[in-house]
Amino acid sequence: MGRNLVMIRDVGQHINETVTIGCWLHNIRSSGKIRFLQLRDGSGFIQGVVVKSEVAEQIWENTGKLTQESSLYVTGVVREDTRSKGGFELTVTGVEIIQIATDYPITPKEHGVDFLMDHRHLWIRSPRQRAILVIRAQIIQAVQEFFDKRGFHLVDPPILTPSSCEGTTNLFHTKYFDEDAYLTQSGQLYMEAAAMALGKVYSFGPTFRAEKSKTRRHLIEFWMIEPEMAFVTHEENLEVQEQFVSYVVQSVVEKCRKELEVLERDITKLERIQAPFPRITYDEAVKFLQNNGHEFTWGEDFGAPHETAIAEAYDKPVFITHYPTSIKAFYMKPDPNRPEVVLCADMIAPEGYGEIIGGSQRIDDPELMEQRFQEHELSKEAYQWYLDLRRYGSVPHSGFGLGLERTVAWICGLDHVRETIPFPRLLYRLYP
Ligand code: 4AD
Ligand code: MG
Repeated sequence: MGRNLVMIRDVGQHINETVTIGCWLHNIRSSGKIRFLQLRDGSGFIQGVVVKSEVAEQIWENTGKLTQESSLYVTGVVREDTRSKGGFELTVTGVEIIQIATDYPITPKEHGVDFLMDHRHLWIRSPRQRAILVIRAQIIQAVQEFFDKRGFHLVDPPILTPSSCEGTTNLFHTKYFDEDAYLTQSGQLYMEAAAMALGKVYSFGPTFRAEKSKTRRHLIEFWMIEPEMAFVTHEENLEVQEQFVSYVVQSVVEKCRKELEVLERDITKLERIQAPFPRITYDEAVKFLQNNGHEFTWGEDFGAPHETAIAEAYDKPVFITHYPTSIKAFYMKPDPNRPEVVLCADMIAPEGYGEIIGGSQRIDDPELMEQRFQEHELSKEAYQWYLDLRRYGSVPHSGFGLGLERTVAWICGLDHVRETIPFPRLLYRLYP
């Protein structure tokens, strides 16, 4: 409405000028004849200073009524202020109240996690939650930059699928008119088809797992980035992954310094994340665990404590390669020299954040693929189209899936994935 609002993030371009911002009151402090308004507009925070002797009486009265999360238009002169966090302050000359908020439930005192989760729609306004969501957005931007610059095409696999990709135990079932359908666990199988059509592709979308595990690392609905590359082998796949993760981390370090500071993240730990990353085989990982007091037998899968113990030996993400064929997905290509292991790798993040990437070279031989279908009791009928990919110009190809939320948790240094996504879907939570 012709107000010409300035965003808080841009006030530095208006030093000593009068600007108006549309904002919410985050907090207010009074000391006699001066009031300090902590204002936020989503782009940042700024302190507005109201001096009784310097403003109209009406404005002094208005600011006396303000409550947390009241919405306002605030006009003032931008001052450079090296003591304040953002580097600027607003000498307030006008306050127009849009709405006085009464009894905002999230006060500056401590709240329990359940309470905050019930109020997630408001909780995301807090400086910490805002910082996390800004970093999440930057990670997504960096992901797209990385692949777009390298000639990958973005392809969108379907969300509703007739069959599973990662086993049948944690599928979300729904009716598709008269048929049965499942929410996608991974777009991979479709991305393999896309790679045969477009060469190098990646997807970015939501995936669903009805996992009954209540851990710090599991969401029911999470977002995955899934590149798939024709004519790319296991070893080359790892090189793409380490360059990709380094690129994403360094872009956050560069573009989101303020947000990382709000989260009190140790930035030196992130600066170290540069390719190449260490690689160990599953066999070596098993020996390492056994030598460090863990009961572990070859053939078992790693649990969170095992992954953490292995990751602690490194200050970069580590690849664990060549897992036993028996514990990995049906589509992974066996090592030609040792068919009891597959050409796969999990990337384990440092600092106990666990597996952030799962990837592999895929089986390209039609006979072996058919054999796997029998061993895994998969319906050949449901996957005819997938078998076609091995019948018509099959080529070596590889790909991987990066879990966005675990990556956000690691980069932000968070205890739990529930804060990494605007509205988390957890084992016992579908609200808000
Ligand atoms: O290791 P996963 O199951 O691999 C796949 O789905 C492959 N089809 C990917 C591919 O090759 N295109 O899952 C990949 C990643 C994990 O490493 C983890 O980061 C994340 O997805 N992930 C989860 N994140 C949050 N909550 C869950 N329940 C997750 N399950 C997997
Ligand atoms: Mg995995």
